[in-house]
Amino acid sequence: MNPINDIIKKIFGRISSLTGGNVGAAVGIDIGSSAIKVVEIKIKEGKIVLETYGSIALGPYDSLDVGRVTNLPVEKIAEALQEVLKQSGVTDTTGAFSIPVQSSLIFTIELPKNVKKSEISTIIPIEARKYIPLPITEVSLDYFILPERESSFEEMNAASSNSGTPQKTAGKTSVLIVATQNDAISKYRSIVSLSSLTAAFFEIEIFSSIRANFERELSPVLLIDFGASRTKLSIVEFGMVKNYHTIDRGGADITDSISKSLSLSFAEAEKMKKEFGLFGNLAEKTLADIIKIHIDYILSETNNVLLEYEKKYSRTISKVIFTGGGSLLKGLAEVAVNNFRAEIEIGHPFNKVNAPEFLRKVLETAGPEFAVALGLALRKSQ
Ligand SMILES: Nc1ncnc2c1ncn2[C@@H]1O[C@H](COP(=O)(O)OP(=O)(O)OP(=O)(O)O)[C@@H](O)[C@H]1O
Ligand SMILES: [Mg+2]
Repeated sequence: MNPINDIIKKIFGRISSLTGGNVGAAVGIDIGSSAIKVVEIKIKEGKIVLETYGSIALGPYDSLDVGRVTNLPVEKIAEALQEVLKQSGVTDTTGAFSIPVQSSLIFTIELPKNVKKSEISTIIPIEARKYIPLPITEVSLDYFILPERESSFEEMNAASSNSGTPQKTAGKTSVLIVATQNDAISKYRSIVSLSSLTAAFFEIEIFSSIRANFERELSPVLLIDFGASRTKLSIVEFGMVKNYHTIDRGGADITDSISKSLSLSFAEAEKMKKEFGLFGNLAEKTLADIIKIHIDYILSETNNVLLEYEKKYSRTISKVIFTGGGSLLKGLAEVAVNNFRAEIEIGHPFNKVNAPEFLRKVLETAGPEFAVALGLALRKSQ
């Protein structure tokens, strides 16, 4: 844990002792590919209060540099998890855990509108089977009926854009399906038990991130989780995921390129990336160009996903929210403004919790990295 987190922990410890007792604690645990992030919140006098938060790099547990993407055995992850909980002063032993999105398949299916709600749970596994390349017994299914309002909007659009074949999607109920591999869930259960914790629930990371980053946006918003290993794109309407896509590139790929191109160690390259970002520095003119190649790739892939969505649904994305540690890259918002015809926002999830005013600035910067962990804690506290 870095020194600033240590200071914050002490301040929070003091605030906690002044405000009295642990009431309604909720802990969110995000095991990312490069780091574990934890957030503890408490409900005090009806308010959500940030109790503590902290992160630990996983690289050193795999004999790698801080910031590297890891693939660790459960025992090592449990060791790192116990360490970060101890360092952050988390007291609750029941946590809510995120599951990486690559362990699941997310898609929408359409059912006839006359299907009764009570029949949906029987129909879903049968319909889902057509989309899942694994035996249905190897996955756990979750489903969400997309709001009626949204379906009506689509019908309206389909009717107006296909005047020859009106009501293309009329009479359909859209259902979002999340199929998660049972193996992945078992792996997380092992981490939980090896860490002597109890799991309140497991949730696919993008749903936690949406909870942390969204207010009450109704029109389509694109959420970009720019992590160390991957960039996760979710198009969200009426609070529900309408479209999901992964780009296999993240912050660690940028650092790796800087390290190789400028003959620097990974640690030095990571430091330079964070310090100068897309603005570059005078001494090393190519730094910004190296970073830009990756950002251009991510933005062009994102544009393809957006165009496909806008064409399919005849709707435009009104806002793009960046989250994940990679969204702290200097100059990212400036480049993104020129790329999207939408409002650009860097998420500030800690605005959802009460914290001392003088910590606002630190929390504003830390927010994107802790969005998933905070989103989990928020659900747990409900
Ligand atoms: N100020 C900064 N400028 C640029 N990049 C940054 C900055 N701060 C953090 N990052 C990058 O953010 C990434 C870590 O983000 P995050 O913690 O969201 O990833 P993760 O959850 O471990 O990865 P994933 O979601 O892909 O599993 C690293 O690549 C790190 O270099
Ligand atoms: Mg992540």
